[in-house]
Amino acid sequence: MNNKRIIIAIDGHSSCGKSTFAKAIAARLGYIFIDTGAMYRAVTLYALEHGAISGCIADEEKIEAMLGDININFRFNPERGASDIYVNGDMVEGKIRTIEVSNCVSAVSSIGAVRSKLVAMQQEMGRGGGVVMDGRDIGTVVFPNAELKIYMTADAMVRAERRYKELTAKGDNVSLEEIYENVVSRDKADMSRAISPLRKADDAIVLDNSHMSVEEQMAWFDREYQRVLGC
Ligand code: DC
Repeated sequence: MNNKRIIIAIDGHSSCGKSTFAKAIAARLGYIFIDTGAMYRAVTLYALEHGAISGCIADEEKIEAMLGDININFRFNPERGASDIYVNGDMVEGKIRTIEVSNCVSAVSSIGAVRSKLVAMQQEMGRGGGVVMDGRDIGTVVFPNAELKIYMTADAMVRAERRYKELTAKGDNVSLEEIYENVVSRDKADMSRAISPLRKADDAIVLDNSHMSVEEQMAWFDREYQRVLGC
Protein backbone atom coordinates (compact mmCIF):
# COMPACT_ATOMS: atom_id res chain seq x y z
CA MET A 1 0.00 0.00 0.00
CA ASN A 2 1.31 3.40 -0.99
CA ASN A 3 1.30 5.64 2.10
CA LYS A 4 1.63 9.00 0.37
CA ARG A 5 -0.89 11.37 2.00
CA ILE A 6 -2.60 13.28 -0.76
CA ILE A 7 -5.32 15.93 -1.01
CA ILE A 8 -8.66 14.67 -2.25
CA ALA A 9 -10.95 17.46 -3.48
CA ILE A 10 -14.65 16.69 -3.78
CA ASP A 11 -16.89 19.27 -5.40
CA GLY A 12 -20.41 19.09 -6.70
CA HIS A 13 -24.05 19.95 -6.33
CA SER A 14 -25.80 20.35 -3.00
CA SER A 15 -27.35 17.28 -1.38
CA CYS A 16 -25.71 14.72 -3.62
CA GLY A 17 -24.09 12.85 -0.75
CA LYS A 18 -20.68 14.52 -0.94
CA SER A 19 -20.24 14.58 2.82
CA THR A 20 -21.28 10.95 3.33
CA PHE A 21 -18.93 9.87 0.55
CA ALA A 22 -16.07 12.11 1.75
CA LYS A 23 -16.47 10.93 5.34
CA ALA A 24 -16.36 7.26 4.29
CA ILE A 25 -13.22 7.84 2.23
CA ALA A 26 -11.52 9.72 5.06
CA ALA A 27 -12.34 6.91 7.52
CA ARG A 28 -11.01 4.29 5.10
CA LEU A 29 -7.74 6.14 4.48
CA GLY A 30 -7.26 7.58 7.99
CA TYR A 31 -7.49 11.09 6.53
CA ILE A 32 -9.08 14.21 8.00
CA PHE A 33 -12.46 15.10 6.53
CA ILE A 34 -13.29 18.78 6.14
CA ASP A 35 -16.84 19.83 5.26
CA THR A 36 -16.38 23.35 3.86
CA GLY A 37 -20.13 23.80 3.35
CA ALA A 38 -20.45 23.64 7.15
CA MET A 39 -18.12 26.65 7.35
CA TYR A 40 -20.32 28.74 5.00
CA ARG A 41 -23.36 27.59 6.95
CA ALA A 42 -21.71 28.59 10.24
CA VAL A 43 -21.08 32.13 8.98
CA THR A 44 -24.69 32.26 7.75
CA LEU A 45 -26.01 31.13 11.14
CA TYR A 46 -23.92 33.76 12.93
CA ALA A 47 -25.12 36.47 10.52
CA LEU A 48 -28.75 35.40 11.02
CA GLU A 49 -28.37 35.44 14.79
CA HIS A 50 -26.73 38.87 14.71
CA GLY A 51 -29.25 40.64 12.50
CA ALA A 52 -27.13 40.79 9.35
CA ILE A 53 -29.61 38.88 7.18
CA SER A 54 -33.22 39.74 6.73
CA GLY A 55 -35.55 37.84 4.42
CA CYS A 56 -32.40 36.11 3.11
CA ILE A 57 -30.99 39.44 1.93
CA ALA A 58 -27.49 39.62 3.35
CA ASP A 59 -26.12 42.93 4.58
CA GLU A 60 -22.66 42.52 3.03
CA GLU A 61 -21.01 45.38 4.89
CA LYS A 62 -22.29 44.17 8.23
CA ILE A 63 -21.20 40.59 7.52
CA GLU A 64 -17.77 41.70 6.36
CA ALA A 65 -17.37 43.78 9.53
CA MET A 66 -18.33 40.84 11.76
CA LEU A 67 -15.99 38.30 10.13
CA GLY A 68 -13.24 39.05 12.65
CA ASP A 69 -15.63 38.07 15.47
CA ILE A 70 -16.40 34.65 14.01
CA ASN A 71 -14.03 31.98 15.20
CA ILE A 72 -14.69 28.65 13.49
CA ASN A 73 -13.10 25.36 14.38
CA PHE A 74 -13.73 21.63 14.10
CA ARG A 75 -13.41 19.05 16.87
CA PHE A 76 -13.49 15.34 16.24
CA ASN A 77 -16.56 13.63 17.70
CA PRO A 78 -15.79 9.90 18.13
CA GLU A 79 -19.51 9.05 18.43
CA ARG A 80 -20.17 10.36 14.91
CA GLY A 81 -16.78 9.39 13.54
CA ALA A 82 -16.53 12.94 12.14
CA SER A 83 -15.79 16.45 13.30
CA ASP A 84 -18.38 18.81 14.76
CA ILE A 85 -18.21 22.47 13.88
CA TYR A 86 -17.93 25.14 16.58
CA VAL A 87 -18.50 28.88 16.35
CA ASN A 88 -16.90 30.88 19.15
CA GLY A 89 -16.84 27.74 21.29
CA ASP A 90 -20.47 26.68 20.68
CA MET A 91 -21.17 23.42 18.89
CA VAL A 92 -23.55 24.36 16.04
CA GLU A 93 -23.63 21.15 14.00
CA GLY A 94 -27.45 20.83 14.37
CA LYS A 95 -28.25 24.54 14.02
CA ILE A 96 -26.48 24.96 10.67
CA ARG A 97 -28.53 22.25 8.92
CA THR A 98 -31.97 23.90 9.15
CA ILE A 99 -33.93 24.95 6.08
CA GLU A 100 -33.60 28.60 7.19
CA VAL A 101 -29.80 28.41 6.99
CA SER A 102 -30.01 26.40 3.73
CA ASN A 103 -32.20 29.08 2.19
CA CYS A 104 -29.87 31.95 3.13
CA VAL A 105 -26.44 30.35 2.71
CA SER A 106 -26.11 31.23 -1.01
CA ALA A 107 -26.46 34.95 -0.17
CA VAL A 108 -23.56 34.66 2.28
CA SER A 109 -21.32 32.34 0.26
CA SER A 110 -21.36 34.81 -2.66
CA ILE A 111 -19.64 37.53 -0.56
CA GLY A 112 -15.97 37.90 -1.55
CA ALA A 113 -14.68 38.68 1.94
CA VAL A 114 -16.40 35.59 3.35
CA ARG A 115 -14.86 33.39 0.67
CA SER A 116 -11.36 34.85 1.17
CA LYS A 117 -11.45 34.18 4.89
CA LEU A 118 -12.79 30.64 4.58
CA VAL A 119 -10.55 29.68 1.64
CA ALA A 120 -7.46 30.79 3.60
CA MET A 121 -8.59 28.67 6.57
CA GLN A 122 -9.21 25.67 4.31
CA GLN A 123 -5.77 25.98 2.69
CA GLU A 124 -4.16 26.03 6.11
CA MET A 125 -6.16 22.97 7.23
CA GLY A 126 -5.12 20.96 4.19
CA ARG A 127 -1.52 22.11 4.03
CA GLY A 128 0.07 18.83 5.13
CA GLY A 129 -2.07 16.57 2.92
CA GLY A 130 -4.01 13.58 4.19
CA VAL A 131 -7.33 15.40 3.82
CA VAL A 132 -10.61 14.87 2.07
CA MET A 133 -12.25 18.24 1.58
CA ASP A 134 -15.71 18.70 0.17
CA GLY A 135 -17.30 21.85 -1.20
CA ARG A 136 -17.87 23.73 -4.44
CA ASP A 137 -14.49 25.27 -5.26
CA ILE A 138 -11.99 22.89 -3.70
CA GLY A 139 -10.52 21.52 -6.95
CA THR A 140 -10.72 24.87 -8.75
CA VAL A 141 -9.71 27.47 -6.13
CA VAL A 142 -8.74 26.05 -2.73
CA PHE A 143 -6.48 23.23 -3.95
CA PRO A 144 -6.04 23.52 -7.73
CA ASN A 145 -3.11 21.08 -7.42
CA ALA A 146 -5.00 18.40 -5.50
CA GLU A 147 -3.85 14.95 -6.61
CA LEU A 148 -7.39 13.57 -6.88
CA LYS A 149 -10.40 15.69 -7.82
CA ILE A 150 -13.91 14.30 -7.88
CA TYR A 151 -16.92 16.14 -9.24
CA MET A 152 -20.13 14.67 -7.80
CA THR A 153 -23.62 15.06 -9.11
CA ALA A 154 -27.04 13.38 -9.04
CA ASP A 155 -30.49 14.03 -10.43
CA ALA A 156 -32.14 17.02 -8.65
CA MET A 157 -35.27 15.11 -7.57
CA VAL A 158 -33.19 12.19 -6.25
CA ARG A 159 -31.22 14.73 -4.20
CA ALA A 160 -34.36 16.44 -2.90
CA GLU A 161 -35.83 13.09 -1.82
CA ARG A 162 -32.65 12.20 0.05
CA ARG A 163 -32.57 15.51 1.94
CA TYR A 164 -36.32 15.29 2.63
CA LYS A 165 -35.82 11.89 4.28
CA GLU A 166 -32.94 13.23 6.39
CA LEU A 167 -34.86 16.29 7.60
CA THR A 168 -38.17 14.53 8.29
CA ALA A 169 -36.29 11.77 10.17
CA LYS A 170 -35.00 14.53 12.45
CA GLY A 171 -38.58 15.74 12.96
CA ASP A 172 -38.35 18.86 10.75
CA ASN A 173 -41.68 19.93 9.28
CA VAL A 174 -40.77 20.41 5.61
CA SER A 175 -42.33 19.48 2.28
CA LEU A 176 -40.62 17.71 -0.62
CA GLU A 177 -41.59 20.61 -2.90
CA GLU A 178 -39.82 23.19 -0.75
CA ILE A 179 -36.70 21.02 -0.54
CA TYR A 180 -36.71 20.48 -4.31
CA GLU A 181 -36.99 24.25 -4.86
CA ASN A 182 -34.11 24.82 -2.46
CA VAL A 183 -31.93 22.23 -4.27
CA VAL A 184 -32.64 23.73 -7.70
CA SER A 185 -32.20 27.34 -6.59
CA ARG A 186 -28.93 26.53 -4.80
CA ASP A 187 -27.60 24.76 -7.92
CA LYS A 188 -28.38 27.89 -9.88
CA ALA A 189 -26.86 30.22 -7.28
CA ASP A 190 -23.75 28.03 -6.86
CA MET A 191 -23.12 27.82 -10.60
CA SER A 192 -23.87 31.42 -11.52
CA ARG A 193 -22.23 33.42 -8.74
CA ALA A 194 -19.48 35.80 -9.84
CA ILE A 195 -16.80 34.56 -7.42
CA SER A 196 -15.66 30.94 -7.50
CA PRO A 197 -18.79 29.47 -9.10
CA LEU A 198 -19.29 25.72 -8.89
CA ARG A 199 -17.75 24.13 -11.94
CA LYS A 200 -15.97 20.92 -12.73
CA ALA A 201 -12.19 21.36 -12.74
CA ASP A 202 -10.77 20.24 -16.08
CA ASP A 203 -8.87 17.41 -14.40
CA ALA A 204 -11.73 16.25 -12.13
CA ILE A 205 -13.42 12.89 -12.63
CA VAL A 206 -17.21 12.79 -12.55
CA LEU A 207 -19.22 10.62 -10.18
CA ASP A 208 -22.98 10.63 -10.87
CA ASN A 209 -24.42 8.69 -7.94
CA SER A 210 -28.15 9.02 -8.80
CA HIS A 211 -28.47 5.25 -8.94
CA MET A 212 -25.47 4.07 -6.93
CA SER A 213 -25.34 2.66 -3.42
CA VAL A 214 -22.67 3.86 -0.98
CA GLU A 215 -20.87 0.49 -1.49
CA GLU A 216 -20.82 0.99 -5.26
CA GLN A 217 -19.45 4.49 -4.79
CA MET A 218 -16.70 3.17 -2.53
CA ALA A 219 -15.73 0.50 -5.07
CA TRP A 220 -15.58 3.24 -7.73
CA PHE A 221 -13.41 5.35 -5.41
CA ASP A 222 -11.00 2.47 -4.68
CA ARG A 223 -10.34 2.04 -8.40
CA GLU A 224 -9.72 5.75 -8.94
CA TYR A 225 -7.52 6.05 -5.85
CA GLN A 226 -5.35 3.11 -6.93
CA ARG A 227 -5.06 4.66 -10.38
CA VAL A 228 -3.94 8.03 -9.00
CA LEU A 229 -1.38 6.44 -6.70
CA GLY A 230 -0.16 4.33 -9.59
CA CYS A 231 -0.49 0.99 -7.83
O1 DC B 1 -22.37 21.51 1.02
P1 DC B 1 -23.50 22.35 1.64
O2 DC B 1 -24.81 22.20 0.93
O3 DC B 1 -23.62 22.14 3.12
O4 DC B 1 -23.01 23.87 1.41
C1 DC B 1 -23.78 24.95 1.85
C2 DC B 1 -23.62 26.13 0.90
O5 DC B 1 -22.30 26.68 1.01
C3 DC B 1 -23.86 25.83 -0.57
O6 DC B 1 -25.14 26.27 -0.96
C4 DC B 1 -22.80 26.60 -1.31
C5 DC B 1 -21.83 27.05 -0.26
N1 DC B 1 -20.48 26.52 -0.43
C6 DC B 1 -19.60 27.23 -1.19
O7 DC B 1 -19.98 28.25 -1.77
N2 DC B 1 -18.31 26.82 -1.30
C7 DC B 1 -17.89 25.71 -0.68
N3 DC B 1 -16.61 25.33 -0.79
C8 DC B 1 -18.79 24.94 0.09
C9 DC B 1 -20.09 25.37 0.19
